[in-house]
Amino acid sequence: MNHFEYRDGVLCAEGVSVADMADAIGTPFYCYSSATLTRHARVFLDAFKGQPARLCYSVKANSNLAVIATLAAQGAGADVVSEGELRRALAAGIAPAQIVFSGVGKTAAEMTYALEVGIDQFNVESEPELELLATLAAAQNKIAKIAIRVNPDVDAKTHEKIATGKAENKFGISWKLAPAVYARAAQLPSIAAIGIDVHIGSQLTSLEPFKAAFTRVAGMVEALRAEGHTISHIDLGGGLGIPYRGDNDIPPHPDEYAALVKATMGHLGCDLTFEPGRLVVGNAGILVARVIYVKEGDDRTFLIIDAAMNDLIRPTLYEAFHEIKTVAEPKDEARITYDVVGPVCETGDFMAKGRDLPPVKAGDLIAIMSAGAYGAVQASTYNTRLLVPEILVHGDEFAVIRARPDYAEILKQDKIPAWLQPDPSRTR
Ligand code: LLP
Repeated sequence: MNHFEYRDGVLCAEGVSVADMADAIGTPFYCYSSATLTRHARVFLDAFKGQPARLCYSVKANSNLAVIATLAAQGAGADVVSEGELRRALAAGIAPAQIVFSGVGKTAAEMTYALEVGIDQFNVESEPELELLATLAAAQNKIAKIAIRVNPDVDAKTHEKIATGKAENKFGISWKLAPAVYARAAQLPSIAAIGIDVHIGSQLTSLEPFKAAFTRVAGMVEALRAEGHTISHIDLGGGLGIPYRGDNDIPPHPDEYAALVKATMGHLGCDLTFEPGRLVVGNAGILVARVIYVKEGDDRTFLIIDAAMNDLIRPTLYEAFHEIKTVAEPKDEARITYDVVGPVCETGDFMAKGRDLPPVKAGDLIAIMSAGAYGAVQASTYNTRLLVPEILVHGDEFAVIRARPDYAEILKQDKIPAWLQPDPSRTR
């Protein structure tokens, strides 16, 4: 459920007209609904009532400070994968004790900073990372709490670019090799291996892969305990999918997911951490664009809009489907088939192909739905387009939470070296 609905003939985000926002700040822009963010966090947490679980929101899905702060107000912690994300989580008010640090390539500088600020847990993804962390923690006279991320060799049955749990993927330590790494960790005085971690992929639409992975992890916890390790924490990652096609594809509800967790993990008595990203923010955001031209081709009609692959790369990168709505409520059942494309000079620059939409004309506004996760965070300035701004709605009010830069800001990031300047005494 989300809070983007037609009211009086126009698409609204909660109590604010999308058309009014477009007039106020121009297009394209991302718009997020606070009520939807809050609701999704609550639905997830409520599903785990009675289980010792916490939600460490996966900041990579949408790392705007205002979004993180909205979720922090619901009690969320954070899952981060870089120093930058860690700094964002802290700046948004998340306590270090509620932050876990994932990722296959944490650098010495990043781990040093994370140790300094005192994050809760490192999810360690390789033996070299373990050794480096041990050295860095010892240098600060600290004991780093870790979970070892295991690769359970399970097919998540999602798009290949977002599947992470097969042996051929770079993520985690093979579940077969992991016991030896726990044994090594036990020899390192600056390391406390208190947990185990797994994340097999994103946009999972069935519980079966979760069941296979969780069952394997539960078996490992028992085996590790039998070898004398004290495993008290389990981090089950994120990955639960969201409906992108309205009511036509409904992934498992968090309640069903929570029931599976209880069935597979309940007997172990461990504290549980979850790292959902998409589930919390995906349907809480839309990308709003304006039609520049309607162009007739030989065999199709192109809707050329002012948002492009640099603003939302999911359709071309993952063949992702995003529902598209006209901001003006359709008056009748008439539909025209369009290829919805952007201005970027690439054939891969499209939002949808062969999509039936109400007839639209130049100047009309459209909304690309379910764009709150992995939308703005993956945006770029390709083709020297201005980085897409973000708006947060809260009831009847809205705020720009990341402003559109101007061209001067973009151009001043580049420097022309002295030898290219015709007059060396001239500075730019
Ligand atoms: N934890 C770890 C260790 C992860 O790698 C990820 C996502 C998550 C949690 C959150 O997963 P979620 O609950 O959001 O599925 N850009 C892609 C998605 C990449 C996901 C990367 N890892 C997309 O647009 O579909």
